[in-house]
Amino acid sequence: MTTPSAATFTALQVMQDAPVIPVIVLNDVAHAVPMARALVAGGVRMLEVTLRTPQALACIEAIARAVPEAVVGAGTVRSRADAQAAANAGARFAVSPGYTSAVGQACRDVGLALLPGVATGSEIMMAQEDGFTELKFFPAMQAGGPAMLKAWSGPFFDVRFCPTGGVSLQNAADFLALPNVVCVGGSWLVPADAMAAGDWARITQLAADTQGLRR
Ligand code: 3PG
Repeated sequence: MTTPSAATFTALQVMQDAPVIPVIVLNDVAHAVPMARALVAGGVRMLEVTLRTPQALACIEAIARAVPEAVVGAGTVRSRADAQAAANAGARFAVSPGYTSAVGQACRDVGLALLPGVATGSEIMMAQEDGFTELKFFPAMQAGGPAMLKAWSGPFFDVRFCPTGGVSLQNAADFLALPNVVCVGGSWLVPADAMAAGDWARITQLAADTQGLRR
């Protein structure tokens, strides 16, 4: 697949690139580049680095600079300031755990494709009112799992989802079999112990293991 320029990246393109978007928590800037290279080597290049640690923005910056084969995005974007900081660091897309119009507008203003997080019908309707039709279902297992997505496919027939939260290699196929699911998100590709040990081969293997998932 050709990589579009940063300005033209859409949420749908982010979702369609691979069956799984890894949700990454980085505590050490030194881990960022080898971790990103390990995922790319396993065929996963859309990387969501969560803004949950003091090092997250520096990690996004390092990956954007040193791993051009990866497309780094920012997760846990909850405010206009987060969106601005993510764009400044070189993020190409944003993911939010919930949705507000302010965050939606902020991402548009800084040119970041956004996957807004939703867990209820009202939140889907708010995101749709603002023009967002590709959404993250979060926290997916806790909020109803595949059955919830099946129920939503009736009234929200024009929305596509990336379920995230409690998704694993074991249950990912149940989500990916649904017509309104484009990809899933999950942290299992980047275990904290593998990162701490510098076990990049394990991360490459975990990424490669997701390539067989059907979309
Ligand atoms: C998150 O934002 O924490 C993601 O949903 C990751 O959830 P997981 O650790 O259950 O994959």
